[in-house]
Amino acid sequence: MSRLVCVSNRISPPRKSAAPGGLAVGILSALKRTGGLWFGWGGETVEAEPGDPDIHIRDGVSYATIELRKKEFDLYYNGYANEVLWPLFHYFLKGMRYSAEQHDAYQSVNRTFAKKLLPLLEANDHVWVHDYHLIPLARRLRELGVRQPIGFFLHIPFPNIEMLRVLPTYAELLRDLTCYDVIGFQTHNDLRAFHSGIEHLFGVEAIRPDGRVKIGERVVHAEVFPIGVDVDGVREEAVQATSSDVVRRMTDSLMGRDLVMGVDRLDYSKGLVERFSAYQYFLETHPENLGRVTYIQIAPLSRTDVRAYKEIRQSLEQAAGRTNGRFADTDWTPIRYLNRNFPHATLMGFLRAAQVGLVTPLRDGMNLVAKEFVVAQDDNDPGVLVLSNLAGAARELSSALLVNPYDSRAVGHAIQAALSMSLDERRERHAAMLQVLKRNDIITWTRRFIEALAETQRDAPAREIGESRMRVVRNSPQHYRA
Ligand code: F6P
Repeated sequence: MSRLVCVSNRISPPRKSAAPGGLAVGILSALKRTGGLWFGWGGETVEAEPGDPDIHIRDGVSYATIELRKKEFDLYYNGYANEVLWPLFHYFLKGMRYSAEQHDAYQSVNRTFAKKLLPLLEANDHVWVHDYHLIPLARRLRELGVRQPIGFFLHIPFPNIEMLRVLPTYAELLRDLTCYDVIGFQTHNDLRAFHSGIEHLFGVEAIRPDGRVKIGERVVHAEVFPIGVDVDGVREEAVQATSSDVVRRMTDSLMGRDLVMGVDRLDYSKGLVERFSAYQYFLETHPENLGRVTYIQIAPLSRTDVRAYKEIRQSLEQAAGRTNGRFADTDWTPIRYLNRNFPHATLMGFLRAAQVGLVTPLRDGMNLVAKEFVVAQDDNDPGVLVLSNLAGAARELSSALLVNPYDSRAVGHAIQAALSMSLDERRERHAAMLQVLKRNDIITWTRRFIEALAETQRDAPAREIGESRMRVVRNSPQHYRA
């Protein structure tokens, strides 16, 4: 029997008060079913050399957390991960600030992860690495002699080679990815973008007709695994939360007004400034809604030490203030903008109470709030999802009102269309989306990835010799050849 070892930058052990993000929900769902180990940074930084991992066991899952050196963490997390890879992968070149120092810290932290994880690994482990912070981890583990299958899932978009090669170290990044046995992406777009990088570096012959990538003797299983939600869990949370104090207080305060709801980490990729303009346009062009609709935007602060996040916070405060200053009445505030977080169950209760779910990121790997909004609805009287066509979720949720998030007028009209949609149409759209979400829920996502990883054990001999067969071809745009 193999043991599942999940690795992510940040670990969030289950706490009732926490509202975990998509990544944490996915990892916990996998580990709760199979048992195993979750390894990652515990949230503390230290001045000296970090010690051994701290290990806690709860409900059959072991949590191993490490500390990171303060200076290195800053360059790795605030720097390379969130000032280089995050903007680049979300196609925001303007926000990218590359420095070789940050890159070195990123590689060094990945070496630390490998070194600290190594003594915890057992012969039958299957290692599942999550997200862009840890792309080099498989290479670093292989260098230390790890031979167990290692998979990687990217929760965010993957950029096409024309965007990716802006990064001075793009070839290394692609080569690091090919050290995994399985690479999972959210959508076919992301897989195609990955193939464009592989073709650029290794030649078109490296991409097999089934989409897998062949480099020398090694076959890398690159596939699409769209992350799902825990359909039964979210429904239960939403229904129960409806009668909770905090959800009741919120619904009572609406005084019968319609509710437009947004829930996003405060991040420039979520398109909140554009969304606020769209709401303002909606109020301007459909004045019959003045005093009759309330928009609540929950946006907990994140990555507050990164410059772009400080800037977006300011812009949003100004935008919300502008709209409220212009339209508010003594007994009505058009936008309630909150920077605080709520427990996951409460958020599901809020989503259930909304007539419109407004999910308009400028680019998003998946966006689980969109999926949660659909699942949280009352089947008999569901709300309407207004969804960005630049979110991964739009590929599955084609019955939402799909909008271009940059087009404030289109988003404004979509809000009006959602509020005036007939019950029959709302039910029809909702049922179609719910069916898709039930078919590909979080359990299916977890099972498919774990199965793909287990399958690669058959290719184990190839794993032994894979890397040594790679050589560098210089003076060619395709630097690495099998
Ligand atoms: O979805 C991307 C992601 O970085 C996840 O890995 C993480 O759960 C979430 O965003 C929150 O990010 P951070 O750990 O930087 O606050």
